[in-house]
Amino acid sequence: MRVLSLRINGDLHRTAAPAHWTLLEVLRYQLGLTGSKQGCDKGDCGACTVLLDGEPVMSCLQLAATCEGREITTIEGLAPAHRARGGEGADPVQEAFDSCGALQCGFCQPGMILSARALLDRTPFPDRREMQDALAGNLCRCTGYTQIYQAIEKVACEGAGFAPPKTSWAREEGGD
Ligand code: FES
Ligand code: FES
Repeated sequence: MRVLSLRINGDLHRTAAPAHWTLLEVLRYQLGLTGSKQGCDKGDCGACTVLLDGEPVMSCLQLAATCEGREITTIEGLAPAHRARGGEGADPVQEAFDSCGALQCGFCQPGMILSARALLDRTPFPDRREMQDALAGNLCRCTGYTQIYQAIEKVACEGAGFAPPKTSWAREEGGD
């Protein structure tokens, strides 16, 4: 066993885990942060994506011990961080994925949303190619990606202060 000190979503967690455990294993099985999904467990699907110092990484490929001293953000931390900055509700990316119908089974969503959040943090108004590159490591077998790109465009447009393009399936604000 190895004692670990991990800063996750702004809080310091001290825990112990086998030295070979990945960050994903520690998050899910030691700390109960099950928002990060365990899909392939070998770097193929991106469902386990978290942010490490603001950059997306696949937590199934990252030894937990290598993450000490770094800032880890999981899906559980997005909404509280947004509210700590004075926002309301969930992070705008989470809200946009919901209102644009950018999910079906939802398994890919935590990783997809964190990759999208990181993209928007470094490129507030990305084009489609930049979105494709940013999400290249996140596989979704359900949505076909169009609504995912539209959700990111919605956040970008609203962040820049103008209305996003209308889509046939986007839910009206305040509607059902
Ligand atoms: S579970 Fe990590 S990439 Fe699939
Ligand atoms: S919504 Fe099902 S895998 Fe993406």
